[in-house]
Amino acid sequence: MKFDLGSIMYILENASSLEDLEKARLSMFGKDGSITEAINSLRFLSGKDKAEQGKELNKVKTAVLDAIAQKKRTLEEEALNRALLSETIDMTAPYKQSNEGREHPITHVIEEVTEIFSSFGFSVQDGPEIETSFYNFDALCVPHHHPSRSDQDTFYFDSGALLRTQTSSVQIRSMQKLGVPLRIIAPGRVYRPDYDNTHSPMFHQIEGLAVGYGVTMAHLKWCLEEFCRRFFDRTMKLRFRASFFPFTEPSMEVDVPCRRVSGKIEVGMEGDWLELLGCGMVHPDVFKNCGIQDDKITGFAFGMGVERLAMVKYGIGDLRDFFCNDQRFLKYYGFSISDKAH
Ligand code: DAH
Repeated sequence: MKFDLGSIMYILENASSLEDLEKARLSMFGKDGSITEAINSLRFLSGKDKAEQGKELNKVKTAVLDAIAQKKRTLEEEALNRALLSETIDMTAPYKQSNEGREHPITHVIEEVTEIFSSFGFSVQDGPEIETSFYNFDALCVPHHHPSRSDQDTFYFDSGALLRTQTSSVQIRSMQKLGVPLRIIAPGRVYRPDYDNTHSPMFHQIEGLAVGYGVTMAHLKWCLEEFCRRFFDRTMKLRFRASFFPFTEPSMEVDVPCRRVSGKIEVGMEGDWLELLGCGMVHPDVFKNCGIQDDKITGFAFGMGVERLAMVKYGIGDLRDFFCNDQRFLKYYGFSISDKAH
C-alpha cells in the first residue's frame, strides 16, 4: 500500500482545531485507520516485500506521528493565546456608574454645616447617645415636671439612663471638658418617640455653643445670618422670633423667608416664613451647673435639625425616606463623591 505523504501533511497542516486534528489522527491510527490497516496487512506479505514495505510504512508512521504532535502543540498554543487575549482588560471601556456608592444627604448636610462653622472657628465635639438625666435635662435647667421628660417623650432604660433627646447635652459635656472660652458644634443622633412624615424616632441635630467674654446676641445673629447665606447660597433677612427654652435667656426661634410655589418651598424668596432652628443666650444657671462661676462669661447657643435642613435645601418631602435605604431615593438625593469638590 502506497501513502501520499504530501496530501496527508496537507490535511494535518490545515486542521483548524484540536478536534479536527484528532479526527485526522483516528482516520489513520484508529482501529480501522488507513495506516493501522496497512500495518496489519503486512502479515500477508513475506520475505523481501515484507521487509521493504515494513520499512516504508515505519517511515510514514513516524513522519505522520511527528507532524501530528507538532500540529497539536501549535493548536494548543493558539488556543491559549486566544484565551489570554479575550481576558485582557480594556482600560478605555466605559465603567458602570450604577454601582457607585453615594453619600447620604444627611451625611452631606452635616459636612456642609461643619465646614461653614469650622471657618468661624468652631470645633466639632461629640457626646454619648445613651445619656443621663443630668446631661440631657437637669444641667440644662429642664424642670422635673417638664413634659419632655415624661416617658411619652423620652426613651428610658430601666437603669434610669435615656437615649438623648437633644444634642444640647454636648453643651454641658464640652464646657466641663474644655472649660471656657470655647466655640463648638456637636452634630449627632437624637431620639424621641414620634413617627410621621416630619418625625422619625431617630433623627439628627447640630448643636452650637460659643462662650467667652463679651459674647452678645449680635454675634449670634451674625453667625446665623452668615451661616444661612452660605448654606442656602443667598443673602436673606432672618426673623428672630421670641420663644422659650429652659437653658437660654432670652430664647428665640429663627425663621427664614420662603415662598411656597405649588407645594414646593423656595427658601430666600420673600412672602412667607419657615422655622429653621432654636437659639438663645446661655442661661447663667447653665454655667453654674457646669461649675463656671465667672459672672463676666456669656455665650450663645443654637440647635438645628439636620433632616429639616436637608428637606428644605434639597426639596425632600417625607422625612422617613431618609432612613428606608431605598436605592432609588439614595440614587436621586445622594451625592456623588465627585460632588465633594463643590
Ligand atoms: N435642644 C432644642 C430642641 O431639641 C433646640 C435648641 C434650642 C438648642 C435652643 C439650643 C438652643 O442650643 O439655644 O428643640
